[in-house]
This record gives sequence, structure tokens and C-alpha cells, in this order.
Amino acid sequence: MIHGEINLSVEAANSLEKLLPRLKAAFADQIAADPQAWLVFTQRLSLHFPRLFGLYHRLYAAHYDFFYHLEDLLSELARAVFARPADLRALDANREENPLWFQSNTMLGGVCYVDLFAGNLEGIRAKIPYFKELGLTYLHLMPLFSMPAGENDGGYAVSSFREVHPPLGDMAQLAELSRALRVEGISLVLDLVINHTSDEHAWARRAKAGEARYEAMYGIYPDRTIPDLYEVNLREIFPDEHPGAFTWIEDPGKWVWTTFHSYQWDLDYANPDVFNRMAGELLFLANQGVEIFRLDAVAFIWKELGTTCENLPEAHLILQAFNALTRIAAPCILLKSEAIVHPDEVARYISPEECQLSYNPLVMALLWNTMATRNIDLLQQALRRRFAIHPHTAWVNYVRCHDDIGWTFDDADAASLGVNGNDHRQFLNAFYRGRFPGSFARGLPFQENPKTGDCRISGTCASLAGLEKALAEEGPNEVELAVRRIALLYDLALMLGGIPLIYLGDEIGTLNDYSYLDNPTRKDDSRWVHRVAADPASYARRHDPQSLEGRVYGNLRAAINFRKAHPELAGGELEVLESGSRAVLMAARASQGSRRLVLIANFCEQEQVISAWSARQCNLSGKERLFGKGQMHDNGTLSLPPYDFSVFG
Ligand code: GLC
Ligand code: GLC
Repeated sequence: MIHGEINLSVEAANSLEKLLPRLKAAFADQIAADPQAWLVFTQRLSLHFPRLFGLYHRLYAAHYDFFYHLEDLLSELARAVFARPADLRALDANREENPLWFQSNTMLGGVCYVDLFAGNLEGIRAKIPYFKELGLTYLHLMPLFSMPAGENDGGYAVSSFREVHPPLGDMAQLAELSRALRVEGISLVLDLVINHTSDEHAWARRAKAGEARYEAMYGIYPDRTIPDLYEVNLREIFPDEHPGAFTWIEDPGKWVWTTFHSYQWDLDYANPDVFNRMAGELLFLANQGVEIFRLDAVAFIWKELGTTCENLPEAHLILQAFNALTRIAAPCILLKSEAIVHPDEVARYISPEECQLSYNPLVMALLWNTMATRNIDLLQQALRRRFAIHPHTAWVNYVRCHDDIGWTFDDADAASLGVNGNDHRQFLNAFYRGRFPGSFARGLPFQENPKTGDCRISGTCASLAGLEKALAEEGPNEVELAVRRIALLYDLALMLGGIPLIYLGDEIGTLNDYSYLDNPTRKDDSRWVHRVAADPASYARRHDPQSLEGRVYGNLRAAINFRKAHPELAGGELEVLESGSRAVLMAARASQGSRRLVLIANFCEQEQVISAWSARQCNLSGKERLFGKGQMHDNGTLSLPPYDFSVFG
């Protein structure tokens, strides 16, 4: 026998050959009833099992019971395949033919909390006409699974992935809602909170009760020995809630790994049982009609002593394995990573074989940075160096979301522009807390770290963009500037390339809501200031162009209509141009050789003039203005009103 590199694809084929007859026997009744499903399943297995096997082998081959787990995983897949409803099977087939559907310029995302936006799932269903009016094709409902009654991190503490939080509705209503949305061309997006469960999840309860098999699903330690060793290298994520990453549980007197809140217990993916059970939860939800999973906090899912336990190679293998199993059992699914980490690391989660979609936290943060500084340098550099990703993947571009804003740019990138990262973050925090002279923003600090003075920023788009301050302390001119800032931010999110995502409420200029301070389970988490209940009266004013809501909404609608009418805005290709002004960003979009569109954004409250030379360099001559208020003059110069966003083509 030759010892050396094992040929995994041969081993994969061998393993499948041995496992398939066992699976066939176990599922004999289902196969007899639904031979077509079995046929499709085996066809997809022959295509994708080698990849799944390779990943699973790298993760778990060292376990003595590896083959038990592998067979168990195949059973999860088979169960899901037989349970898959007919409409979703049809969607699978359709998306296999048309895998780049999400690159369309008609794509538009929206995100909201079920309770805050519409009370419950039935309420959300009743809002479908509104989602259509807005043009949404992607609806992310914030966590809606059963959760603890008190603190639950806005639902990110999941007590059961198979039950809807009762006040919101039930699983049958969720499946029904997904169908109703699908009929209208809207894909349902839900979180899969993969890093942790709540301490009330059945697995956690059984672990607390001392059942070894469930204890093994979490990071549970009898004393501080191991936690202390880990903590040498760990970053504190919610430092004002608990120091370090572990929480002491009285009963049974042990330490449990809690990266986030102390009631959010980290799952231990080194245990193949955890992988398989979470695969089962994913596939179950896929069969309820979820089309895109937002994979929460992916950076933290693998731990290794002596490392920071963030962004480890195995975290990627796990996500790739999830990707491979969706190809087998629910190929219409897309995965979206939520990795709010260093930009180099964010990029590593994005690939057709891992997460096809990713938040773009860098561009989000730098849009706000540019608003504060009126200097495009950092944003322009990021778009040049860090925006291009695999053509079969897409950024999800956003202005605000339910979380805080962290200033995640790379310090070396900043240094190359003469900017000191730490000082600049302090400036941005001061600016967005409204503490910097001349600041228009009204934000709040989030998770201020008493040791480092570091913090992140909470606040709604409108309040951070100056609307709250302008209304309270200033006048119509400042109000107008704030309205334009909101429009500019969203214009860019809509047109830079990728899928734009609207944090619902922003489209009508929702301001900060300080009432969370009266709620004992929320008062210590400033993110609630921008998690605002939708006000029907404000929404009713959206068609009135005299109202503030109507002004903000009208601007956004114009940009959405423009995006949807211009296939040049599909995909994610972007060419950064040089405007000659530090306040003006210029870039060109052209998808697959169609007409080039030139985007021009003035980040300053003063008019900017682009020289004739720069305008010529950017090929503006002879082009027509299609959007915005920029003026080409006879002498070849281009003038841009305050905060103008124009498109020429
Ligand atoms: C994600 C969510 C955030 C939550 C955290 C822990 O980052 O976006 O809201 O607090 O995960 O689940
Ligand atoms: C940290 C995490 C990120 C999460 C955020 C919640 O920044 O890295 O995943 O969204 O906390 O505030």
C-alpha cells in the first residue's frame, strides 16, 4: 500500500457507493412514492457530493465516528429533498438554469422587524402591496423565531429554529407568507443565527441538565483554566455587557462560551453533531420557502486555542459545506455572510462556493465617513482596491441596518492617504455623536469600551444625516441639506453595483426614537434608537411632496425607478474615475459592454465645479444627463449643486 496524499474524490465516490444503498433502504417508502425526487437527489449528489465530502472530511475526519456523522448528514439531506414542496422544486430548477438572477438591476432589498413594521406575519403579508410599490424583490425579516421573553438581542437569541415567536405568528403562516411573496417576485430572506442559540433552546436546556451529548454542542468548561487560555487572544465584542467571552452559569456551575450576550451560547462546530443539526435547521427553513439566508456572525463560528478565534480557515470550510449541501437539497438558496470585520477578512467569505452575497460594511462606513469629511479619498480608494469581487457574487450595499456603524476600514489603507486610523475613528465617533463642532449628526455611542474609549455608532439614517438636528435647532436650509444627504447615500447604495438594501423606515426619513430608554430590557442597547415602530401616519404622507416623508420618499423612488430602468446598473462592475475634486466621486458603470453610465456624487454642501479637462477625461462630453441636477456648460465644465447625484450616459 502506498502511503501519501489520499485521493479524496476517489474516496468520496467509494463512500457514496457504500452509503447510497443504506440510504435507499432507509428511504424505500419515500422513494417508491416520489421516484423523481430520488432521481434528482442522486443526480445532484453525483455532482456535489465530492465537494461536500472533501470539506466534511477536512473538518471531521479525525472523529472515530466520522462515517456515522456522514451518513446522518446524508439522511438530513434526503429527508429535506422528499419534504421539499413542489413550488420550491420548480424554483430550484429555474435557478439552476439562471444562477445569476440576483445580478439583475431590478433587484432591490428591504429589511424590517416583523413586529415593528407590521405587528405580525399577517401584517407583513398585508404590506405586500407596499413592498411592490417600493419595488422590493428581496425582503429580509429580522429574527422571528422563538426567543426568550426578556432580553433576546432583537431575536438573535434563538430558542428554536423551527418555531415562530408566538406573538408574530406560526410556521404555517411563515411558509404561506413566503409563497405569497414569491408569487409577487419577492424572495424571503431570514437569518440563520449559526454561531449561537439562546440559553433557553432545548439543546442548551439539556446541556444545563447535564446531558453530555448536549453539553458537547457548546463550549462548556468546569473552571477558568481553558477560558483563561483562550481569552489571552480574544477581542471583546459586547464589552459593556460582560468582560471576556465566557459566562458563569450558576446551575450547574460551569463556564460557557458567549461571544455576544451572556444568554447567547456559542455552538461548538468542532462537533459534527452541531454541524449536522444546524444543516437540518437550514434545510427545514429552506423548505418553508426561505430563499436567502443571512448567516449571522460567521466570523466567530470556529475556535482554536492560541488564535483570536475569528475568521479561522475552518469557519470558511463550514460555510462552504453549507453551500455544498444547499446545492444538493435546495439549490435555489443563496447564502449571505454577515462578517463585520476587517475588509480583507470580509472578502474571504465571498465566493460562488461559499457566500454568494455579503454585506458591504466597508462601503457603508465610508459613505458615512465621506459625509463627515467631504473628502472622498478613503471611499475612492476602497472602491478601487476592494470593490471588485467574483462576477458570480454580489455585495449587498446598505446605508443603515439594525446594527451600529463600526469604522472597519484598514489602517494601512488610511495611512497611505496620510490618515491615522485611530485618530480618525475618534473623530468619526465624535462627529456622529454630535460632539464635533459643526456636526450635523445625532448619533449615540454603542458598546463604549471603558478600557479603550472605543465605541461604535447608533442612529437612524435621517438622524445621522442631519434631519433631526435641522428640524429641532435649525431651519429649512439645513432640512433641505439633510434630505439631500439621505438621497445621496441611497443613490450610491442603489447604483454602485450589487444588491441595494433599504432599512425600512429610511425611505420616509424616520428619526431616532428614544423611547427604548424606558424599556428595561432595551435601555442598555442603543441600537434600539434606530429600531423604530413604523408610524402609519408618517407612511400615509409619503405621496405628499410637501411633507418631509414625501420629499425623502420621492427622492428614493426616483432613484429606484432609474435603477430598474437601466440594465447598465446590473452586476457589480465599477470603474472609478478621477473628478479632480476631493469632494466629488466619479465612477462608471457598464454591465457587459452596454452603454457606460457615469455616476457623479458631490459630497459637499457647496456647489462643486468639475473642470473641462476632468470632464473630458471622464468622457462626459456629448453625454446626456439622465439623473440628477448636474449641469454641463458650453465651456465644458460641469457644475454640481450641493450633495447632487447625477448620472450621465
Ligand atoms: C449579528 C447581529 C447583531 C447581533 C449579533 C449577535 O451581528 O446583526 O444584531 O447582536 O449578531 O447575534
Ligand atoms: C460585532 C460583530 C458583528 C456584529 C456586531 C453587532 O461588530 O463583529 O458581527 O454585527 O458586533 O453590533
